[in-house]
Amino acid sequence: MADLILGIETSCDETAVAVVERATIVRSSVVSSQVEQHAVFGGVVPEIAGRAHVQELVPVLADALAEAGVSGGDIDAVAVTSGPGLVGSLLVGVSAAKALSLVWDVPFVAVNHLEAHLYASFLEEPDLEMPLVVLLVSGGHTMLVLMEDHGRYRLLGSTLDDAAGEAFDKVARYLGLGYPGGPAIDALSGDGDPSAFGYPRSMVQENPDTLPDDRRFAFSFSGLKTAVVNHVRSDPGVATADVAASFQEAVVDALVTKARWAIEASGARGACLGGGVAANSRLRERFLDVCTETGVRAFLPSRAMCTDNAAMVAAAGWWRLRADGPSPLDTGADPNLGLPLLP
Ligand code: KG4
Ligand code: ZN
Repeated sequence: MADLILGIETSCDETAVAVVERATIVRSSVVSSQVEQHAVFGGVVPEIAGRAHVQELVPVLADALAEAGVSGGDIDAVAVTSGPGLVGSLLVGVSAAKALSLVWDVPFVAVNHLEAHLYASFLEEPDLEMPLVVLLVSGGHTMLVLMEDHGRYRLLGSTLDDAAGEAFDKVARYLGLGYPGGPAIDALSGDGDPSAFGYPRSMVQENPDTLPDDRRFAFSFSGLKTAVVNHVRSDPGVATADVAASFQEAVVDALVTKARWAIEASGARGACLGGGVAANSRLRERFLDVCTETGVRAFLPSRAMCTDNAAMVAAAGWWRLRADGPSPLDTGADPNLGLPLLP
């Protein structure tokens, strides 16, 4: 069995390489962020992202091997995010991973980025109990997943429009807080009143049974975003910190309410967070409250494991390799790859 996995992540705007032992021990995890290059444009520019990955991947790889104290010959398998993501960015990582697996003569493992976010928790807490409700909240996705076992996922619900991170980024941009918006709103909210404005919470009500089945665990954030923009437009002097805190509270309310319903309806034994928005202070606080109140074991990955990194890719790769063996070398980058779900 492959013990030492090299993980590569280039699906969006972070070039990351990690060396992970048996999906639990992070020997190194190096992340080179392109945030500054994209910030001037207010969002990720795909062509700039692809070029930066080409430039950064080899030095980041060298750093990851050096930090882990290993050389190429010690690596047992190479895992890489093959989707979803920006196609030009994905191709940089996938091509490099194939080349390394050929040169080192070790298995190549294609990893689903969403599955990697799920595995960030297992990497830090291997004894998590299943069935496990995972609230996966990133810049591109917002979903509630019931993980029945390794590789066995049921989608309980997802967003009908914007992802939670996308809503944070768009509102922050409108408020002039820069990119990425999530950390900026999180920080500013500390100075604001979360109950200052009652922004809408979509499909959130007292009794979940009054919602149709396909809406019960679904999210929608585009109406909230519009409500914030309309409010600030009509009252330009309003305190930005109060707007930020009230917006954040509305997003977190929707996320934790549906997580609670999912825990109660599924009989889950544990619950955890994943994805960049899982770094949000208020979400972490309220998610823990929900888990305590419903009596399930909670796990919050460290903030570094919530946002994009390659350690989670290596961990997911280890489990995939164990379940399915190596991926064929003709596996391509797939920008629209979905989480593999149970029928
Ligand atoms: O998982 P991730 O690093 O990349 C994707 O796969 O999308 O998530 C990035 C998203 C961005 O939208 C960013 O604004 C958001 O995560 N984010 C946060 C926080 N830190 C990052 N959102 C809210 N609060 C935070 N502290
Ligand atoms: Zn991600």
